[in-house]
Amino acid sequence: MATRSVELKRGLKDVYLDRTQASFIDGTEGKLLYRGYNIHDLAEKSTFEEVAYLLLYGSLPNQEQLDELDATLKSTRTIPEEVYRVIDLTKDGHPMDVLRTAVSALASFDPDVEDNTADGVRRKGLRLTSQAATIICAHYRARQGLPPIAPDQSLSHAANFLYMMRGVVPDEDEAKLMDVDFILHAEHGANASSFASRVTASTLADLHAAIVTGIGTLKGPLHGGAAESVMKMAEEIGDPAEAEAYAKRVLGGHGRIMGFGHRVYKAEDPRAQHLRDRSRSLGEKLGQPQWIQILDALVEAMAPYRARGIHVNVDFFAGSIYYLMDIPEDLFIPIFALGRIPGWTLQVLEQFENNILIRPLLWYEGPMDLEYVPIEARA
Ligand code: CMC
Repeated sequence: MATRSVELKRGLKDVYLDRTQASFIDGTEGKLLYRGYNIHDLAEKSTFEEVAYLLLYGSLPNQEQLDELDATLKSTRTIPEEVYRVIDLTKDGHPMDVLRTAVSALASFDPDVEDNTADGVRRKGLRLTSQAATIICAHYRARQGLPPIAPDQSLSHAANFLYMMRGVVPDEDEAKLMDVDFILHAEHGANASSFASRVTASTLADLHAAIVTGIGTLKGPLHGGAAESVMKMAEEIGDPAEAEAYAKRVLGGHGRIMGFGHRVYKAEDPRAQHLRDRSRSLGEKLGQPQWIQILDALVEAMAPYRARGIHVNVDFFAGSIYYLMDIPEDLFIPIFALGRIPGWTLQVLEQFENNILIRPLLWYEGPMDLEYVPIEARA
């Protein structure tokens, strides 16, 4: 047996892995900055295209730079015919599995796949941002037996995403909601999927591999999967008056209320308020206020947990917005992924800029020096 003892950092809690210029999070204050800019300003005043530029290039764009980025995003909304076939072959899978598989397939057709220069990574990151939207929408339609809808080049990334899904140009409010949602999900430090992308990049693998890693990691219910679970929970609760009993039942059984709690935020996640306000307005506009009422009642039922630093996170209200927009629950995580691609790309850029192989240690606690017994002699 090993005799030395070490301090384990299980889950890498409170471990600083490297330096970053991507985002700043103050979990006690509930503060989030992208490249120095407050998430509240970006959510209220910016656009996803502008935020993508900010993240990938480090400063807010002037008009010419923004137009160029917009043109790049619009010109890369197509995917090869072979990838449509991959989507069709896998169409019965969860949309996150299909997205992961199709992004992986795209690597075989991308002429820049091995280009790990900063320009190459930015180019591929923007291309994947556009192509991922096309994949999600093509799959959404393929599983209904419908053909894909060609992108509308007059529309923004968010509006075009909704258009390619439904074939109807969204109204301004809906397009803005989607845009804000993408902004709020765009970057978040060393969260599990971005960390996983960095690990892949640290081996000097390419951006496609890193993004595939990110998509795979985002799927779990403790990360991006929470939004999907929140609306399942709201449906199960069914009535605001039942929220307290539901919370007691789940927590009494040592379960978790999805959309609550965060590894870094011990105050309310600053992204949540934008989605809460918008979800409330949308519910009222559509004559469906019950969903936000159920969620509000659940927040009240969780009030005693605030003292323990358990507050709503970004996923709590995101699901209700998608739900009200008539987007199926299994698309909630792909939508998170779509917003996060610039963030994953930036984390990979930073990793490449000053690379070191990410390779921690595991403390071995198993038996030592066992005698190898031939198979015929084993019990
Ligand atoms: N419901 C009930 N109890 C909770 C919850 C919750 N949602 N979150 C944390 N706790 C409790 C947990 O049971 C534990 O209690 P105890 O100390 O008595 O064992 C304590 O709080 C600390 O929890 P932890 O799991 O050690 O803390 P963590 O920092 O590892 O957890 C988390 C972070 C996100 C995994 C957790 O809060 C959770 O499971 N939340 C529900 C899933 C969720 O909403 N995920 C989305 C996160 S935000 C979007 C994203 O970036 O992915």
